[in-house]
Amino acid sequence: LLNNVELLPPDALFNIKSRLAKDSRPVKVDLGIGAYRDDTGKPWVLPSVRKAEKLIQQSTDYNHEYLSIGGLGALTQGASRVLLGDQSTALKENRVVSVQSLSGTGALHMAATFLAKVGHDKLIYLSDPTWANHKAIFEMVGFKTATYPYWDPATKSLDLQGYVSAIKSAPQGSIFVLHACAHNPTGLDPDHDQWTSILDAIVEKDHIVIFDSAYQGFASGDLDRDAFAVRLGLEKLSDASPVIICQSFAKNVGMYGERAGCFHVVFPRQDQSVDTEKVKAAVTSQLAKITRSELSNPPAYGAKIVATVLNTPELTNQWHSDMVTMSSRIIKMRHELRDHLVKLNTPGNWDHIVGQTGMFSYTGLSAEMVQRLEKEHAVYMVSSGRASIAGLNSSNVEYVAKAINEVVNH
Ligand code: LMR
Repeated sequence: LLNNVELLPPDALFNIKSRLAKDSRPVKVDLGIGAYRDDTGKPWVLPSVRKAEKLIQQSTDYNHEYLSIGGLGALTQGASRVLLGDQSTALKENRVVSVQSLSGTGALHMAATFLAKVGHDKLIYLSDPTWANHKAIFEMVGFKTATYPYWDPATKSLDLQGYVSAIKSAPQGSIFVLHACAHNPTGLDPDHDQWTSILDAIVEKDHIVIFDSAYQGFASGDLDRDAFAVRLGLEKLSDASPVIICQSFAKNVGMYGERAGCFHVVFPRQDQSVDTEKVKAAVTSQLAKITRSELSNPPAYGAKIVATVLNTPELTNQWHSDMVTMSSRIIKMRHELRDHLVKLNTPGNWDHIVGQTGMFSYTGLSAEMVQRLEKEHAVYMVSSGRASIAGLNSSNVEYVAKAINEVVNH
């Protein structure tokens, strides 16, 4: 049975971590995996999370019981409110079904499994480039994936024309995965006008949208600002199509290993002939079947933490300022890296580093330069040139700039 099993290469991203752990050089810098670090280079437990954990553990009903199959109601309700906003018409009109998922990856997997189950055999369109796991998740359940143009390497900006024409030439009713904000890996988001053009083209072709929302509040420090695309999408798409949203709390609440997230389906504004309640019940039952067969029920601890943060006003305020702490430190590091590169007269223009948003910078460094950074300077990043800016701090940013300067020059 096992003798002919194909040996697969290690995961490119997690393998960076293993190589770095084995590296015995005294100075090494991890710009690989997208996980926030504080200015001392350490993982940061958000103060709002510490307080939530205390509240949970002091509570008289503290336990490790199973959650229901759909997850913790206080999480899914709080999560949909954060995502869609207090004024959301979809929430007011009761058009949203939300279930808990194993963070963003689990939510995307649920989207893939659900769409495969309800018979959607269309192509899944992913941005070029995109987060490597997007392709893996959809292909794992049997979907074929295609790409739409996104990053223009010549200008280091959005290829809007290519993007919109790919939307227009895709078969009617295709599925498009859109990054809600802080595009991974490029850190490049469409501006408001560009989002309008993109979403209008999607409406014209009746495509189905899956928003991947992994960085709300983490990108700009402002939850509403980072939800712009999702909310505009709902406004524009909801006349005809359901919208799927995959929400992660890994980055914005720092719940990386706790796998807290939600999967949301926003139903279209139906005409009188459709019994939305009946359709919602059917969809909910299918989602429950997926969770029951794959996880039985979702993990509780991280869900309780996030729910406590979202539903306790004092902690919600603290969380808002925690997100500002993270996003402003990252923005500061973007500026320092750019400024050091300019000061060193590093060939090229480095302004894109400060123009990009969220965890990453798509630096424009070649795979060969990235390899040399690792080999000669112990600076680790993804071979595409994606650097996790959260790995920079006041003690290593100049060192990294000098290393980049050296590989660009020689
Ligand atoms: C990343 O892109 O580095 C993160 O989203 C971590 C992951 O799971 O890939």
